[in-house]
Amino acid sequence: MSSRIAIIGAGYVGLTTGACFAHLGHDVVCADIDESKVERLSRGELPIYEPGLEQIVTDALRSGRLRFVVGAAVAAAECEFAYLCVPTPQGDDGSADLSYIEQAARQIAPVLPPNAVVVNKSTVPVGSTKVVERVLARPDVKVVSNPEFLREGSAVADFLKPDRIVIGSDDQSAAIRVASLYSSIAAPLIVTDPASAETIKYAANAFLATKISFVNAVAAICENVGADINDVVLGIGYDKRIGHDFLRPGPGWGGSCFPKDTRALVKIAEDASYDFNLLKGVIVVNDEQRERMVDKVRSAAGGSLDGVVIAAWGLTFKANTDDLRESPALAIIAALVKEGAIVRAYDPQVANDLPGVEVHSDAFAACEGAAVLVVLTEWDDFRLIDLDEVQRRMIGTEIVDTRNLLDRAAARRAGFMYRGVGR
Ligand SMILES: NC(=O)c1ccc[n+]([C@@H]2O[C@H](COP(=O)([O-])OP(=O)(O)OC[C@H]3O[C@@H](n4cnc5c(N)ncnc54)[C@H](O)[C@@H]3O)[C@@H](O)[C@H]2O)c1
Repeated sequence: MSSRIAIIGAGYVGLTTGACFAHLGHDVVCADIDESKVERLSRGELPIYEPGLEQIVTDALRSGRLRFVVGAAVAAAECEFAYLCVPTPQGDDGSADLSYIEQAARQIAPVLPPNAVVVNKSTVPVGSTKVVERVLARPDVKVVSNPEFLREGSAVADFLKPDRIVIGSDDQSAAIRVASLYSSIAAPLIVTDPASAETIKYAANAFLATKISFVNAVAAICENVGADINDVVLGIGYDKRIGHDFLRPGPGWGGSCFPKDTRALVKIAEDASYDFNLLKGVIVVNDEQRERMVDKVRSAAGGSLDGVVIAAWGLTFKANTDDLRESPALAIIAALVKEGAIVRAYDPQVANDLPGVEVHSDAFAACEGAAVLVVLTEWDDFRLIDLDEVQRRMIGTEIVDTRNLLDRAAARRAGFMYRGVGR
């Protein structure tokens, strides 16, 4: 059955959610405050890079099931469901800043039709369902938590074929109504109370960040004992209780979610009288990992970065996205620049120069005259690149591969000194 859905916030989550709900046959109006974004989206132009999303948006626009408007109230006036997909950035004390959520709720409160359901899809701390209820001050409107687990880079597939759907509500009929929106999706459905739904989202992100910090910590040990982390993760990953996913060593986690969500969970725990030392350690390991990568580049450069030309491949926080938010690549580059390095970068999805960094339009051009090449994002484009040509462009012979992405033997054959992570 088709429902009328308003999406408030047309960012990575809102745009994917809106387009995918329209794809499932619902009638969707997607609102943003950014007029130029709305204009571009109405023409079918995506402001973000997300594989497969453009086609879904174009098809949905053509079918008339997806529209873009300026302002939350315009979208919400005739909806049965209003999905809040606005940012929840990190506040000064580490907790999630709910001001966008509250503002959106204030904007839609006067126009929501009777008995509409407001859904928190943004990642929000425990108790936020109540916060939204209070701001709305509409006893006829139920507020439900329905956290989003999509990954940038595979957002459409993650939305349409999720590992699970989580719905948190104190009102059974509101939960059933939200569940019905996903009736054509075959996935385990967890219907629970709002606090549990909200906790599930933070716990999931914190656990994933823990896996990455864990493997990075083991990689550090591997380097000191002469073991190879790639073989170690293969060996532990075959244990079904552990699994292979998210056990890739690298420059540390980043992106728009893990940094703020781990810190928010530490704060949620603190407010609930629990000292989450484990998660604090995960954050420390992540900060150290970036420093360890800078150390590797410095030692590849011969002990000092001052005046050294470094080629940097990859700027986004991971492959298959254009998202630079909290990218470890940017943090590492900033540290290199601070020590006097001249950084020339290339990323398949980044065209403009960044503060202190020249961004080139191809991977080889970024290597021109470089003493060290550092691989920072795991783009497939780099995996099988012609390393002989890279060597011809560079003046040095050092590669620091923070993603263990390149073929180590091929790099050595091309005359490089290859440094990976944990091997
Ligand atoms: N990006 C992800 O991979 C991801 C995954 C799962 C959950 N989340 C969570 O989803 C939420 C949104 O994240 P995002 O990455 O999509 O953010 P985003 O910054 O890409 O998008 C948010 C959008 O909301 C708009 N907006 C803000 N206030 C508004 C208002 N009052 N009315 C209409 N539009 C408004 C902004 O202009 C922006 O376009 C966050 O809580 C985030 O933690 C993100």
